Amino acid sequence: MSLPKRVVLVGPMGAGKSTIGRMLARELGYRFMDSDRIIEERCGADIPWIFDVEGEEGFRHRETAILSELSGQSQTVLATGGGAVMREENHAHLKRDALVVYLKTSVEQQVERTRKDRNRPLLQSDDPEAVLRRLFALRDPLYTRLADIVMFTDRKSPRLVVRQLVNRMDPKSPRQVRKVGKEGSKHA
Ligand code: S3P
Repeated sequence: MSLPKRVVLVGPMGAGKSTIGRMLARELGYRFMDSDRIIEERCGADIPWIFDVEGEEGFRHRETAILSELSGQSQTVLATGGGAVMREENHAHLKRDALVVYLKTSVEQQVERTRKDRNRPLLQSDDPEAVLRRLFALRDPLYTRLADIVMFTDRKSPRLVVRQLVNRMDPKSPRQVRKVGKEGSKHA
């Protein structure tokens, strides 16, 4: 596989999309974009405020508009919000000219990584683990269906995930240290 025109990272809250995306963009020499941050910049308010004032529906509306706008932009790595796959109409925006990577993460790791988080309205519940489990059941099939590559991130440093992704994209790259996953498999 030669370098993709753009890379889109999907996956649940706490999968490391922003950290990994930023590092991957640097590695590829691409521009990094984070749809949640762009929504906040455009709106002049943070995500909890948007959920409070406009509800989840208002946020999803803004998210679709941004994904549509960023769709197909070349030489970019786009980190998306965990719920970006929930609207069918977003799928074409995510897929357009993109290598879609699902950063797959266990619910245990998600709980661990989002434990002290106050910026994710959906997790401000008495039982955030139950929320993450419910969302995983709903969304995992969608992430999997959309993805060209499924990359497990549990117990891996962001650096290792990036190295494995670059190897999967461009196996002849001199940066390669080892081959990951079976030929033709989308799992690693
Ligand atoms: C959401 C995930 C968040 C953000 C919003 C909703 C979700 O992004 O878009 O709070 O529905 O899973 P991250 O996945 O970057 O945390």
